[in-house]
Amino acid sequence: MRDVIIACDFQNQDELFEFLKPFDGLNPFLKIGMEIFYKEGPQLVKKLKDMGCRIFLDLKLHDIPNTVEKAMKNIAQLGVEITNVHAAGGIKMMEAARKGLDSVEAGKNTKLIAVTQLTSISQEALENELLIEKPLPEVVKAYALNAKAAGLDGVVCSALEAPIIKKLGLISVTPGIRFADDSVNDQKRVATPAYAKELGSSYIVVGRSITAAEDPVAAYKRCVKEFC
Ligand code: C5P
Repeated sequence: MRDVIIACDFQNQDELFEFLKPFDGLNPFLKIGMEIFYKEGPQLVKKLKDMGCRIFLDLKLHDIPNTVEKAMKNIAQLGVEITNVHAAGGIKMMEAARKGLDSVEAGKNTKLIAVTQLTSISQEALENELLIEKPLPEVVKAYALNAKAAGLDGVVCSALEAPIIKKLGLISVTPGIRFADDSVNDQKRVATPAYAKELGSSYIVVGRSITAAEDPVAAYKRCVKEFC
């Protein structure tokens, strides 16, 4: 089930469709995040699906269980491949999210994954701002176990954490991917597609290494060759 997901971090659909032109016929798996979704809405997801693309809808829901369940009922109708919530919302919220997806036929096959801790949260912020006095990896593992207890399929994490997640019987969706000859940009914990495969990632999420490449299709094919 290994696959490469392109992070479509574009401001609007014109930019996205321009980017996608040379991918015609390749039907790539795309990550649609809140940036473009808040501009273009569910119609964009429908269009991309009609074009034959699979979608990871990265909206990271986090609210009371009742609200998340109802929001997921609407997301379910889009029939996306993967969507997500924040594990910080708790087990009941994650269960409600799954219930919302399962209540609509098209959502039953949607994989639900959890964000454990944002990679922007440091150990210091965890302790001083969130008042969680535990080592970050321990928190990540505990939140992943909560996701499992709630019946979720997996988590978003660094490829370097994929082996632990695999041991828990969960799938891992891993950003922070760079080719060996790429610049790392703002990512701190990076892996190449080949190393992510070795570590047992289920899906890699690749943004700038594809979107900012001189030849994005060639970069995408290189990812697929290394990872799949
Ligand atoms: O351009 P780059 O490959 O760094 O993009 C990675 C994508 O994965 C971006 O959409 C980023 O927001 C997302 N992401 C991440 N780290 C996380 C969760 C998501 O880089 N922990």
